[in-house]
Amino acid sequence: MKKVTAIAPANIALIKYWGMRDEEFTLPANPSISMTLRECVSTCTVAARDDGATEDEVLWVDIGGRVGSAPPWLRSGVVRQVERLRQYVGKTVALRIATSNSFPTGAGMASSASGFAALTMAVGSFLGGPSTGDTLSRLARLSGSGSAARSLLGGFVEWPGSADDPDSPARQLFAAGHWPLCDVVAVVDPMPKSISSREGHRRAPGSPYFARRQELLPARAERVWRAVGDRDFDRFAEAVEEEAIDLHLIAMSARPPCFYWQPATLAVLQAVRMLRGEKANVCATIDAGPNVHVLCLPAEVPRLSHVLSRVAGVHSIIVDRIGEGPRFVDEHLF
Ligand code: PMV
Repeated sequence: MKKVTAIAPANIALIKYWGMRDEEFTLPANPSISMTLRECVSTCTVAARDDGATEDEVLWVDIGGRVGSAPPWLRSGVVRQVERLRQYVGKTVALRIATSNSFPTGAGMASSASGFAALTMAVGSFLGGPSTGDTLSRLARLSGSGSAARSLLGGFVEWPGSADDPDSPARQLFAAGHWPLCDVVAVVDPMPKSISSREGHRRAPGSPYFARRQELLPARAERVWRAVGDRDFDRFAEAVEEEAIDLHLIAMSARPPCFYWQPATLAVLQAVRMLRGEKANVCATIDAGPNVHVLCLPAEVPRLSHVLSRVAGVHSIIVDRIGEGPRFVDEHLF
């Protein structure tokens, strides 16, 4: 039986997409830049249903390898995206789809980005539609997780989404080999976050500081881009941390507010500051969740992991690094 399996990595945003210009087409309020990871991945296997059923079957494979029906919230998002892809390609076949994540799901670690990237690739390819390129980038974005478009590429990635070309696809700025940064994630809470990114995007413009953020972003994005280009960690760290705090300032000052941080989030930020004070090449960023991504040069990983694992309230540590992007494999989930 024909099966297609795609593996797509999570990404961590350096300049964050926060707020939507258009919800129906998932057009962002601002351009974003991310770093694609290597070990934190989603896998998706697709085949045609062979039991005559006309509905899609959606399976979830947990970290221990146990296969079960996907929970309703996951199933509905998957089925909507599959329907979109079927319509695009013009086919009607019912599918069996299984997905899994190698890391905590829904905790602000881009599991929807990697999940929808893998799903869009696997289903697109299975149906004979696009499996790479700009069309795939646009289709992945329509899943509702705009950052999924960035998970289709490796290295440092930009999703332009600017006012003059809001529909632009994501594009690679630098390949992974350009600067082999690591990402040590301090997992403060592995459980799904209480306020989805989608809801956060909706609330963002309600912050009195949202308009000011839009004014500041172009210069900050350029600072990140140049620092990566020059492999200048100090300049990189300054711009990335500024951006992370800014995003959460907007989230916390939205009406109603989105508080993603927990006490241990702040404790990790303090530990990172302490290390920076000792001249370590480390800096922190946080997506829509309580977990802290500490970006660093490879030499810092042992000490950093040790320090972070001793911070009170840190549940676990995930050591990851920049990755080459998604791929198709011959090992299937079912
Ligand atoms: O792509 P979404 O809808 O999951 O939103 C991503 C939001 C952030 O992770 C906070 C920022 C980003 O650019 O990834």
